[in-house]
Amino acid sequence: MCKKRNFIAIISLLAVVIIGSAATMPDEDHTYKNLKVLPKNISHDDLSGVMKSWSTALGVKCNFCHAPKVDNPEKLDFPNDAKPEKEMARSMYKMTMKINKKYFGHEDMEGEKAVLEVNCNTCHRGNANPEK
Ligand code: HEC
Ligand code: HEC
Repeated sequence: MCKKRNFIAIISLLAVVIIGSAATMPDEDHTYKNLKVLPKNISHDDLSGVMKSWSTALGVKCNFCHAPKVDNPEKLDFPNDAKPEKEMARSMYKMTMKINKKYFGHEDMEGEKAVLEVNCNTCHRGNANPEK
């Protein structure tokens, strides 16, 4: 009886240690190959969040900006710059950051903490072509 309880205590302690160290592990294994506007040391979670928010703002899927792999067209070649939409997204990002810095006083993407800011959705609202 007592042994069993010890065993459970040890297992849960181990779980705390393992989960704890996984959470504080640096994201070094997620070095992206071709980041020109986003921070080069961006974490996997932050990059995924940015990509999802851009997709939602434009009402598109990942393949709107990312070209398929040559050897495996079922998959996307994320670092590849073949699609002009990807470069357009970079310049849109720079423009958006500039507006926020100049007129809203933000230095970076932490802007969502503030009440006022411009983001992709401010203009796009789920539409890749807001001018139409
Ligand atoms: C509106 C265009 C756009 C959409 C939609 C988009 N991306 Fe991206 N993605 C970019 C741009 C631009 C970069 C490069 C950012 C930079 O230069 O800092 C990038 C970079 C990446 C990278 C890093 C590649 C590397 O190693 O350099 C990954 C991974 C990625 N995107 C995944 C996704 C996924 C997954 C989706 C769908 C959920 C998605 N993207 C949707 C424009 C887009
Ligand atoms: C101030 C308004 C505004 C903001 C903010 C904005 N966009 Fe745009 N975006 C536009 C307009 C207008 C166009 C159409 C331009 C054209 O057709 O020449 C456009 C076009 C684009 C295109 C090209 C679409 C196509 O069909 O080829 C992409 C990609 C894009 N935006 C991505 C983004 C992303 C990503 C963000 C946020 C980082 C963003 N935009 C923020 C106004 C905006």
